[in-house]
Amino acid sequence: MIAMTWYMNVAQFATDPFGGRRPPDGQGEDDGAFLDGEPMNGDAIYPADGASGGLSLPSFARDGLHVGRPAWAPSAADRIYQAFDVSQPVDQPQDLRGRAKQVARLLSGVIHRRNHGIVSGPRGSGKTSLVRVFGQYADREGIVVLYAACDGGTTFGELLRGYLEQIPPSSVDPDEVDLFDQRVLSFGLESSPHQATSIFAQIKYSQVVIVLDEFDRVHDPVLQSKVASLLKLISDARLPVRFVLVGGNNAFLDVVREHPSLMRHVTRVSTAPLAHEAVFELLGSCADRCGMHFSAPGNQLLDEVACGSPYHARLFGMHAALAALRRGDTEVTEQDVAEGLAESFEEWSALNGDDAAMFHAICSGARGDPAPYVELARRIAMASDDEQLAGRSAPDLEAIEGAFGPAIDRSADPVAFRDATAPQYLIALHHLSRLSSREQKGTVRA
Ligand SMILES: Nc1ncnc2c1ncn2[C@@H]1O[C@H](COP(=O)(O)OP(=O)(O)OP(=O)(O)O)[C@@H](O)[C@H]1O
Ligand SMILES: [Mg+2]
Repeated sequence: MIAMTWYMNVAQFATDPFGGRRPPDGQGEDDGAFLDGEPMNGDAIYPADGASGGLSLPSFARDGLHVGRPAWAPSAADRIYQAFDVSQPVDQPQDLRGRAKQVARLLSGVIHRRNHGIVSGPRGSGKTSLVRVFGQYADREGIVVLYAACDGGTTFGELLRGYLEQIPPSSVDPDEVDLFDQRVLSFGLESSPHQATSIFAQIKYSQVVIVLDEFDRVHDPVLQSKVASLLKLISDARLPVRFVLVGGNNAFLDVVREHPSLMRHVTRVSTAPLAHEAVFELLGSCADRCGMHFSAPGNQLLDEVACGSPYHARLFGMHAALAALRRGDTEVTEQDVAEGLAESFEEWSALNGDDAAMFHAICSGARGDPAPYVELARRIAMASDDEQLAGRSAPDLEAIEGAFGPAIDRSADPVAFRDATAPQYLIALHHLSRLSSREQKGTVRA
């Protein structure tokens, strides 16, 4: 079993985001210039790109008529894919919307107060994005930040060994580098948290932050317990090493359950749904990058359906922008958003046919009034561990199970769909039926 999916020193990432693979002539080093300045090719699947007269073409689509563009330059549709960048975590601080408070809290807790960090939140809520940006700030403070994603089959030895090997020799007393290397080499499957602590104790000249992403994929109680012990040992020994554990809402409970006194050594940050303004900013900045903009009703519809999820906002926004591109316009209207939602739903239903069929049944009225189902889905989508911490009432589990049955993951806390991305699709489908009945009455907005 592979222990880690990847390692990257954040400093290395910040100075070489292309990982050594660059477009020719140094182009693409500045993302904004790369996206805004280059001529684009036409895209065969978008007839508007090559049309003439009558149609108001987006500037990039007109650019698309240019010949002789560099082979690596993106097409008009590619520009939209790149601008909305649905599948990659954010890594530039200016692209992280609505998380200033969380980044500041993590920095002050981990860097200044020397706590360990826990970043928790639902799938796609921006945990990795948050820790990447945190890592960039920490790196600017001269801190060595090591990052890796956990795998379900990882053992304690495999998990730690990978990190220990990444610690730069300059962090260790020059007279002790050989000893340090030997200890790292002999660190193996059976090694204990005490042994790891004694290696970390040799770090003298740097602060080290170790980010364990996808920590919720670790289900082995032995590993959870060893990590909890390690965190406590490191704190008690006042070592210059901090861990940041990243995972679903249960990640925090799993670790603290093992060592309740860890509570005193941990700063916890959660990626609750983004505020409306942050969703609007996010959509605006993505659209800007590909020379488009959302109409006010289009923006509002996206915000309502995304329920504060940056993943859904980007995905639905991307499909909506592609719909506008097909019309040959730079304004993404409510109608384009509806088309984008329909496209997104169809794409998703190929991955999750059962939930999709259930949502169709709900929205068709086959189970009675769809409104209470949609309201429950919205509450699930908007639930966060912040809300739970604040003692606000979680949606009623019985009602949720009654409504959505096997699609629900009872063990999640707060309760969630097994496919955590699902609730927004029910809301999307509901809006689509609402819009289609409005369309029949001829009242769709721009
Ligand atoms: N604050 C934000 N502002 C703008 N975009 C964001 C923000 N947070 C996340 N995103 C975008 O949302 C998507 C999901 O983000 P990310 O991968 O960081 O989430 P995650 O919680 O780590 O997901 P997973 O649970 O699947 O690992 C990415 O496309 C990312 O670019
Ligand atoms: Mg992630």
